[in-house]
Amino acid sequence: MLPLLRSATTLRPMPPTIQGPGGRAPAALVACTLVACDGVQSTLAPAGRSAELVADIFWWSVAGSAIVWLAVIALGAWALLFPPVRGIGEGSANRLIIYGGAVFPTIVLGAYLAYGLHALPVLLDPAPPGSLRIAVSGEQWWWRVRYLLPDGEEITLANEIRLPVGEPVEFLLDSPDVIHSFWIPSLGGKVDMIPGRTNRLTLHPTRTGTFRGACAEFCGASHALMNFHVVVEERAAFDRWIEGQAAPARLPTDELGRRGQALFLGNGCGACHAVRGTIANGGIGPDLTHVGGRLSLGAGILPNGRADFVRWIASTAHLKPEVRMPSFGMLPPADLEAIAAFLDGLE
Ligand code: CUA
Repeated sequence: MLPLLRSATTLRPMPPTIQGPGGRAPAALVACTLVACDGVQSTLAPAGRSAELVADIFWWSVAGSAIVWLAVIALGAWALLFPPVRGIGEGSANRLIIYGGAVFPTIVLGAYLAYGLHALPVLLDPAPPGSLRIAVSGEQWWWRVRYLLPDGEEITLANEIRLPVGEPVEFLLDSPDVIHSFWIPSLGGKVDMIPGRTNRLTLHPTRTGTFRGACAEFCGASHALMNFHVVVEERAAFDRWIEGQAAPARLPTDELGRRGQALFLGNGCGACHAVRGTIANGGIGPDLTHVGGRLSLGAGILPNGRADFVRWIASTAHLKPEVRMPSFGMLPPADLEAIAAFLDGLE
């Protein structure tokens, strides 16, 4: 879990520790609660239409429950603290039980049911024709992302999604082997990725920012180590980015980078990874054409710096248990450095 936490803190520093009179434990609890309600991966800080609806339902439920809870506690306190009122007959007591115990809960829960159901059409609404379409496959344990452009072109990348703000986007979700669940809490609800079928999810980001997505279904040893970043930006910035992603890799011109490229190809990395513009065209692992420009490494578990590339390549199996990529810790440090320089430069 340590690398995951590290990666989360690279985006948003933790708030200073709150040291209250209750000591460290309550202070830590308060801090955790506050962090959970804010930040890049929270249903309570919505940045999409579906997430806003879900957050609304949550807060109305909290408010209603709080009122009912306070009323019940007040009645209980009254019964405990004050002597019984004389002159109340059995009929009044029965009416209290019928109205307070059956009629009132039915009305309240019925109102909540109606309010919840009204949100369903919005949550299930398909994206209008012509919307941006992105196919995402849950792999063990990373995300294969394919932008399906209107002209039929497909751009493959991994572990990062960018979206234009204010536009609906349709996700086509599947998996080649085990069941995962695709979830971007800030933007909307989760949807299962099931082998053999394609599930659809429409999201509609409403504000720009960098958010985090996660797998929400236990899928194996490294289930907790498959995350991704979602960048919501203005249309113009998104267009520039997608144009860059469609282009082949910008290959290194410096000596270290060129040596790294030769080592990358010579060690057979291209059998599993593609780097468009080179002979590396493997499809088993993530596409690395623009890996140096991503916000994280190893599907959200490491920051993306040259030292992180070295760490990842040398100890993959240690960082992500049961991952298919073998560790290349047997390579001399100078070779690891060169490969890291090559990959880090692929922006
Ligand atoms: Cu994929 Cu859990």
